[in-house]
Amino acid sequence: MPPLNRLIATVTDTIPNTTINNSAALRALISQSKNQVQAALNRWLPAEDSIPDTLHRAMRYSVLSGGKYVRPLLVYATGKALGIKTEALDGPACAIELIHSYSLVHDDLPAMDDDELRRGKPTCHRAFDEATAILVGDALQSLAFHILAADTSIQTSAERRIKMITTLAHASGSRGMAGGQAIDLEADGKGSNFTLESLQYMHSQKTGALIRASVRLAALSAPHCEEAHLTCLDQYAADIGLAFQIRDDILDIEASTDVLGKSQGADIARNKPTYPALLGMDGAKQKAQQLHESALENLATLSSEADSLRWISEYIVQRPN
Ligand code: IPE
Ligand code: IPE
Ligand code: MG
Ligand code: MG
Ligand code: MG
Repeated sequence: MPPLNRLIATVTDTIPNTTINNSAALRALISQSKNQVQAALNRWLPAEDSIPDTLHRAMRYSVLSGGKYVRPLLVYATGKALGIKTEALDGPACAIELIHSYSLVHDDLPAMDDDELRRGKPTCHRAFDEATAILVGDALQSLAFHILAADTSIQTSAERRIKMITTLAHASGSRGMAGGQAIDLEADGKGSNFTLESLQYMHSQKTGALIRASVRLAALSAPHCEEAHLTCLDQYAADIGLAFQIRDDILDIEASTDVLGKSQGADIARNKPTYPALLGMDGAKQKAQQLHESALENLATLSSEADSLRWISEYIVQRPN
């Protein structure tokens, strides 16, 4: 295992300079939150030489291997908008990233998308083996819930902590990410032969649910958050969550394998229903843009403290990988 400072990539290589408002501030934010969450993850993940060492090495490989850490970024940015201390956000940021990483390890398995490349490196089951990759997912999921239950830096009431746990459980389960993944697998081969309504539902579950949970976990880690703020933050998150997967579908066609760090054209190879398949490339881009605009409208009542959330929405629909 390389030392942490070698794992923390010089951020961030990939944000287009000219197109995103306040790209310098956004870069700084991405860099800070990536460093913050990687340090916290490094503390929570078992040491790679502790038994069972292969499993622990594979867990670290899958979590600290150069993702974009968008969900922790949302946790920290929401926390900033609500005036929450960074240390209190480390637990929720780690928990959501662990569930996300587990979802990717399983998503890449031969029984699912059968992909060989992730974040520019062999997928977990290629670098280790399939059984280890299944166990990595299991163990990352348990660790996520352990952190929400046990992290003493989460400075909220027991009642709100339980709400955090149920929020993450719901977002990860059969009515959230896992359910969306089940629909995705059933939809393999259907291409454009899928209704827009079903596609939107599938995307909102498989990807949107964890993005919504990122924002909600941060809001719940405040001692108090007004119901009206919770509602508009949730609507913002629902918009960017769907936009995130639409952008992923677009990049599967437009970006190179090198830039993506995963195989270009994976959706087309399996004839997956995607936004470009149903609406065409222009239609998919317009839909992502509309969602970005709607996300901004949902933040209208929040002060400039929420500017980071505004920039993240723009980043999500313009990101190059
Ligand atoms: C990829 O997620 C899978 C989707 C949910 C679309 P990310 O694009 O956030 O993947 P990493 O974590 O940055 O690699
Ligand atoms: C993955 O969607 C969504 C989840 C892992 C929950 P994709 O299958 O489109 O993600 P990539 O393109 O492999 O990252
Ligand atoms: Mg998939
Ligand atoms: Mg996939
Ligand atoms: Mg994809």
